[in-house]
Amino acid sequence: MKLNIGVIKGDGIGPEIVSEAMKVLDRIGEVFGHECCYTQLLMGGASIDVNGVPLTDETIGLARASDAVLMGSIGGDAGTSPWYQLEPSKRPEAGLLKIRKELNLFANLRPAVLYDELKDACPLKEEIIKDGFDMMIMRELTGGLYFGERKTVDIDGVRTAYDELTYNEKEIRRIARRGFEIAAKRRKKVTSVDKANVLDSSRLWRNVVEETAKDYPDVALEHMLVDNCAMQLVKAPGQFDVILTENMFGDILSDEASMVAGSIGMLPSASLNETKFGLYEPSGGSAPDIVGKGIANPIAATLSAAMMLRFSFDLDMEANTVENAVSQVLREGYRTADIMAAGKIQIGTREMGEKICSYIQR
Ligand code: NAD
Ligand code: IPM
Ligand code: MN
Repeated sequence: MKLNIGVIKGDGIGPEIVSEAMKVLDRIGEVFGHECCYTQLLMGGASIDVNGVPLTDETIGLARASDAVLMGSIGGDAGTSPWYQLEPSKRPEAGLLKIRKELNLFANLRPAVLYDELKDACPLKEEIIKDGFDMMIMRELTGGLYFGERKTVDIDGVRTAYDELTYNEKEIRRIARRGFEIAAKRRKKVTSVDKANVLDSSRLWRNVVEETAKDYPDVALEHMLVDNCAMQLVKAPGQFDVILTENMFGDILSDEASMVAGSIGMLPSASLNETKFGLYEPSGGSAPDIVGKGIANPIAATLSAAMMLRFSFDLDMEANTVENAVSQVLREGYRTADIMAAGKIQIGTREMGEKICSYIQR
């Protein structure tokens, strides 16, 4: 099979980790007889440096023409990078939000799984994680606070900032459907997370999720307030199967869940629309503090590539092979610095990519 993959290496550690994920894809191609054809695309700071803007129409067109896009992370250190001298709409993050909106990538899947082999990298007590956990965070990605109107104005000499938060029932229904569909293939439980004790948008969210649940009688639905959810993730992460939530809450909860799973460097993601197309990227950022050191964990990017094989190309066996190779490398005791523990063998970004490749066999 020919896989037409757009690649946005991005900024910071992006190029370091995406290069390893590409090696893994190439190895999959070699072993299973597929041809990976890459088109390099610029976005974020790398695009600002060349084009003056974080995302061009040409990049959007090339992304659309690809079967799927593999992405590193974009952005830099807001304190030191010149990109943050630009007005907000021209900064790296604006490119990411624009591509999500333009390609209608409303469903962001962030699986947070504690690998048995990584229990020693989890900061929670043994008694809390003895049975492990495996949850899917379904984050709505093209609505809410991220896409409302924003402005900062002067009211009687007082600087006042506005960020509008809007959801309509269609936006809620389509992500809720995705959440229930995914839960139906897993442990059949959806925890819908909101702030319905305060926000109108959350009250509508809760109502629409309730209505949607009627079409999925085999899936259990519970509602949880977001502050409680943040606490429950640390207290008893094993209770969650699918967490269904809006854009901002999903952003925050997924970073929290990643750490409970060992590291943000372990958390992949898939951003999907109604077609087979998807944008696949680690959930974490460009990690300016470790860029160029060769120590970034490429597993989140690699597992994102596995999600791409599964969702955009229906190559389940190949996706499983990548995931098993990651487990095996961890089982053998190889770790990048972020998941290092006593008695394990510390390796760098490239060695981790190579190790994963070495376990990819038919
Ligand atoms: P970050 O996720 O980049 O880094 C937070 C911490 O996690 C840092 O200590 C970093 O070293 C560590 N980390 C992240 N990924 C890692 C990996 N693969 N291996 C090992 N350690 C890893 O968050 P931040 O510092 O708040 O943001 C930095 C920049 O990244 C900002 O410009 C932000 O906007 C951007 N960002 C981009 C994305 C994206 O492109 N999807 C996601 C989050 C943040
Ligand atoms: C993520 C990131 C982005 C987000 C930023 C970089 C705009 O944190 O993908 O989680 O908040 O969605
Ligand atoms: Mn985030």
